[in-house]
Amino acid sequence: MRVSSSAIASSAPVARAGDLLRWYDRHRRRLPWRADPGEAADPYRVWLSEVMLQQTTVTAVIPYYERFVSRFPTIQSLAAAPLDTVMSAWAGLGYYARARNLHACANVVTTRGGFPADLAGLQALPGIGAYTAAAIGAIAFGIPTVPVDGNVERVAARIFAIDQPMPAAKTAIRQAAAHLGADPAAQARPSDFAQAMFDLGASVCAPAAPACAVCPWIAACAACRQGTQTLLPRKTPKKPRPVRYGVHFWLTDNRRNVLLRTRPRKGLLGGMTELPGTAWREAPWTLDEALTLAPMPLNWRPAGQVRHGFTHFELIIDILAAQTAKIDAEGFAHALDALDDAALPSVMRKCVRMASG
Ligand code: ADE
Repeated sequence: MRVSSSAIASSAPVARAGDLLRWYDRHRRRLPWRADPGEAADPYRVWLSEVMLQQTTVTAVIPYYERFVSRFPTIQSLAAAPLDTVMSAWAGLGYYARARNLHACANVVTTRGGFPADLAGLQALPGIGAYTAAAIGAIAFGIPTVPVDGNVERVAARIFAIDQPMPAAKTAIRQAAAHLGADPAAQARPSDFAQAMFDLGASVCAPAAPACAVCPWIAACAACRQGTQTLLPRKTPKKPRPVRYGVHFWLTDNRRNVLLRTRPRKGLLGGMTELPGTAWREAPWTLDEALTLAPMPLNWRPAGQVRHGFTHFELIIDILAAQTAKIDAEGFAHALDALDDAALPSVMRKCVRMASG
């Protein structure tokens, strides 16, 4: 479906890139991966931030990004690091295939002597899809393209009052974003234009309460004229996520160790560290069933319940705790005082807090 030509070619004021860029020059966010005005962006930092931002908010990413670049200040240092160290630094950010691809990509880029400076070359790298290639291309290499993330989708849907529901509206929204980026003022500053679109969507053009009065594009916004801005982009109602249940075991010894194990390489949270536990299944576990799978036959006591939302299901974990003089079970004993160094995903960090708190 195309953006209706009447929406783009009406007599209403058009959204001029120059107006957005003037707003950006005054209101741009200061973000740790962002180059200062007039400075060249560092492709390593842009790439790293874009991969981290793929499924995670700016606020959540900032502390991870800062720790990551102080640990791996260059792409060469990242490529040379063991995968386990990279996974530990990523632990808590979720979607761990990103970390594995990041490490693979660092190796490819280091071997070839730098990032390719074109969209096709970028997209051929591990973990880089069309969106991330466009974001790196625009921000780090000044390629005139508009990366369309959720923020940009919202801005474009509202400016042109695209009222098809998502995801069917995606094609029209992409065309609308490209149309905005085709303005010569945007083509002259592709990096700033892409980031201005992100910032407008993240601040002024907010999902529930947009600050239209201070928007540089208020006169050009068809949704604002119609009063439909908070309804756009239209979402298709989501099905409720199914619930799964698991039981995990908090087994400590007298020397302040806890039993951990590594998840299988393939699948959800592949290769990450966890407390030993049952499978995650649709039926709740009875205590007797769970106890047959305990790492050691001990006096297990309930130590709380944790809930965690994954993309496709909601997980409810019951924790059982026990203590023993010496751990004798499959997995490995890890010092309780050094759990920060373990590659524990967020769901397992919640379990640790629940069991030890
Ligand atoms: N969202 C995705 N990429 C971004 C970036 N580089 N800056 C701010 N928000 C973003």
